[in-house]
Order: sequence, then C-alpha cells, then structure tokens
Amino acid sequence: MESATPVIVAIDGPSGTGKSSTSKAVAAQLGLSYLDTGAQYRAITWWMVNNGIDIDDPAAIAAAAGKPEIVSGTDPQAPTITVDGVDVAGPIRTQEVTSKVSAVSAVPEVRARITELQRSIAASAEHGIVVEGRDIGTTVLPDADLKIFLTASAEARAARRSGELKGADVHSTREALIKRDAADSSRKASPLAKADDAVEVDTTELTLAQVIECVVTLVEEKRAGK
Ligand code: DC
Repeated sequence: MESATPVIVAIDGPSGTGKSSTSKAVAAQLGLSYLDTGAQYRAITWWMVNNGIDIDDPAAIAAAAGKPEIVSGTDPQAPTITVDGVDVAGPIRTQEVTSKVSAVSAVPEVRARITELQRSIAASAEHGIVVEGRDIGTTVLPDADLKIFLTASAEARAARRSGELKGADVHSTREALIKRDAADSSRKASPLAKADDAVEVDTTELTLAQVIECVVTLVEEKRAGK
C-alpha cells in the first residue's frame, strides 16, 4: 500500500506481547519507518552501566542522562541503534541490561531526554512511522493516528520470551517479566498504560501472522477514514 499522508501508529504493551515483531512487520508491509523505544532505554542503560553510574542512585542517573548520543536507524527491515557511534544492538539485550533498564527508565530526566528524541524521529518520518513502547499513546505521541495496546496472558508472554532466549527456563522468565512489568507500570513518570483511545488486542490465542493482519487492517481502515 502506498503511503500518501504520513501516518503515526503507536503500539504499546508489556513485554512478550509481540510488540517488536508486529511493529516491524506492519511498518515493512505499509512502507513506514519503525522505532523501537525500548531499545533506546536499553541503550542509555548500557551506557550508564559501562560508565560506572550507580543504578541505585537516581540523582547520578539524572545528572548523566544528557551525556550519551543515542541514534536509532528506523528501517523496519534493518533497525539499528548506536551509542556515541558504537553499535549496541547486541549488548543491549544482555541479562544485565534487562535487569537494570526499569530503574534507569523510571528517572524523569532520562524519560524527558528520550521522549524528545522519539518525537523528533516521528516528526521527520516522511511516510509515517510505527513507534513501539510503553508510553507512546499516552505521553510521547498522544495525537497518534492510531493507538494499539497489545496484551497477552503472563504464561503466553513468558513462553514467547523464553523461546526468544533460546530455551531459558519459563518459570524464571515469567517471574522476571512480571517483576519488570510491575516496575514499568507503577513508576511515577509516564508508566506503562493503555491510552483511553487505544484499541486493545489480546494476542494470547493469536499467531503472529494474525496479530500483524489485525493491525494492518486497523491502519488501513484509519487511512480510509473509517
Ligand atoms: O520493550 P523492551 O523490553 O525492550 O523495553 C525495555 C524497557 O524499557 C522496559 O522494561 C521499560 C522501558 N521502556 C519504557 O519505559 N518506555 C518505553 N516507551 C519503552 C520501554
């Protein structure tokens, strides 16, 4: 489908709901850019860890929040992320970064910095963009053309994540995932939340292909003015 006017799609939800796979596929299918905002929070966390910032000290995190230069490549077929020119696509997926990202992303100065970056990327996407995260529909892009909130049972989410982590134990994955979602949902600064005008899609019983088809249809309906 040709993208006539830029369309902004916000896809939010907890971990393991298929946000990344869905967002990339929808963007690729519709000729839109793609932004993984979780990767940006992971990248700033990676930088904090590498620069010896105490993750238990929000003031130290706040003071350093403006220092790293984070650049996101928005091609859905080959998204990239660099910090000060270093490719961090691999290092941001380590267990260490995953266990620390909620603490770093709860700091308001970090959120302000990353939110500004996200808005400027969305504003410059020529054909439109699919932006995935936790607070895109509520805070980053409240005027998005379409807001989707993906959900799934904790069991389904843990099973998917442990599959991605090449056979990690489902029970410990489930515990870690529930803990991270609780931290992300309960923080004061723009928590994980469904926007009032978001369409909720429960992916528990759906295949990835079905979720993609559902979201593509919603975008096409939106563009057709339905
Ligand atoms: O989607 P992910 O698992 O890569 O996200 C990593 C963390 O980043 C997640 O635990 C919460 C945080 N995050 C956030 O606070 N706001 C966003 N828009 C995206 C992610």
